[in-house]
Amino acid sequence: MMRLSRYLARSGAASRRAAERLIDEGRVSVNEEVVRQQGVKVDPLHDEVRLDGQLLKLPAEQMTLMLHKPAGYVTTMDDPQGRPTVAELVPLDAYPSLFPIGRLDRDTTGLLLFTTDGDLGNALAHPSHAVDKHYRARIDAPLGSRALDRLRRGVDLDGRMTAPARVQMVERGAHPVYAITIHEGRNRQVRRMFETVGASVIELHRAQIGPLSLGDVPCGCWRELTSAEVDALVGR
Ligand code: URA
Repeated sequence: MMRLSRYLARSGAASRRAAERLIDEGRVSVNEEVVRQQGVKVDPLHDEVRLDGQLLKLPAEQMTLMLHKPAGYVTTMDDPQGRPTVAELVPLDAYPSLFPIGRLDRDTTGLLLFTTDGDLGNALAHPSHAVDKHYRARIDAPLGSRALDRLRRGVDLDGRMTAPARVQMVERGAHPVYAITIHEGRNRQVRRMFETVGASVIELHRAQIGPLSLGDVPCGCWRELTSAEVDALVGR
């Protein structure tokens, strides 16, 4: 909800002060009813605000957010097979043009970015803008030092070597967890890298992209990025 005078100002119809005068003068209506009272709140999504009978629209607002993706959701805005999609978890009613930047596999959890800003999405998806992506992978058995070394130096996926990666065990046990940092975004890259050294990923979680980490966003929830966070992400 937003104050009517702010709505008028944001629509470009008047300055905030002039907007209050227009309301006093009875020139503003909400859902066909003239409003002369100051401080009335409107719902920008559903209320119709008019000045001298002319419908006022707000400029489309850009929105960039991070989602803590749960397992079991496909990274697409529309799945012909009817599976649960990430579209169900982001505020599409308010921002119908949101789309995901990059993707996580259906069973991967963690940080997934969305934006309404096509330029930002293209800039971040472009290979020239390779930022570090930090994952935690639980695998089926501990890796030997040769396997670790191969992962770190690069492995052959589809005839092309992966770039050097940082890989470190962060939890011991029969199904240990490795922190792995890569900056490429090839299809199922982390899972396939482990497969090439004979290991199988049981759980995969992305905790961080460049300077942005998931922090305490609960699984299945999202939060908007600040403009400083967006700037840091694109290196502005
Ligand atoms: N690598 C994978 O294998 N899967 C993901 O979802 C992300 C990176």
